[in-house]
Amino acid sequence: MPSYAFVDGQYVPRHLAALPLEDRATNFGDGIYEVWVVAQSKLVDEEKHFARLERSLGELKIPMPMGQKAIAQHVRRLIRRNNIKFGTVYLQISRGASKRDHVPAANITPSITIFTNNKPGLAEARRAPKKLKIITGPDLRWARRDIKSTSLLPNVMLRMEAHQQGCHEAWMVDDQGMVTEGTSSSSWIVTLEKTVVTRALSNDILPGVTRDTVCELIARAGYEFEERGFSVEEAKHAAEAFVTSATNFVGPVVEIDGTTIGNGQIGEVTNKLRDLYLRAAGL
Ligand code: PDD
Repeated sequence: MPSYAFVDGQYVPRHLAALPLEDRATNFGDGIYEVWVVAQSKLVDEEKHFARLERSLGELKIPMPMGQKAIAQHVRRLIRRNNIKFGTVYLQISRGASKRDHVPAANITPSITIFTNNKPGLAEARRAPKKLKIITGPDLRWARRDIKSTSLLPNVMLRMEAHQQGCHEAWMVDDQGMVTEGTSSSSWIVTLEKTVVTRALSNDILPGVTRDTVCELIARAGYEFEERGFSVEEAKHAAEAFVTSATNFVGPVVEIDGTTIGNGQIGEVTNKLRDLYLRAAGL
């Protein structure tokens, strides 16, 4: 049975799904996206991703192609149709297609595409946490990183560099030497005093949905918590480091630029937060 994708109101076999030549997401990166994890056939953190989707569109003055309820219905239909128990959903909305010009046609309508990925291995997430090695590099992105835009060139370039070096992720560093976030994840450290630290929300970083849920779990677990910047040096000397994202959950970082973090094993606080998150997500 083929996997289906949703393209502008139609369910089409995934391998036949296509965007017009002059779709603005491909020509200009003029679009936004969201990624959900599916656990037990349900969307994890469903509402928070929809809230960020609407916010991203609003900031870029792209109208919603249909109501949130209708989009959610299509997402659920696709999950059922593709028989996804554990996996991911990718949803992209572009400003639409019109003759390539920086100014779009007045009558342009936004286009929406949705596809799923089957990842049965996610069911094992609790048993097999991957120890992540990361590198750091300059943050070369634009000034509105709070928008989940499809323009990801600096993220992609740095992530390719990490991959080349046998690493899983890269943390981006601003002009002041402070970590902003990962190429596709939020960045965290745990100090020697067991305070959990992550950068405060601003236009400098994406407001991670997983970050938000982990903040709630930190409060519930009673850990000390600080929202502030931290440098690469501070991270290298921290007791623990981890990343959060829809697909990494709480991912333990054991090496930064070749420096081992703590004793090179998954830290106690990281482990606890990962466990709490996976439980909450139904994994
Ligand atoms: N990336 N920061 C960046 C730059 C990201 O691209 C992401 C997510 C995050 C974490 O956000 P969330 O917790 O809402 O997943 C932080 C997704 C997973 C991706 O691009 O595949």
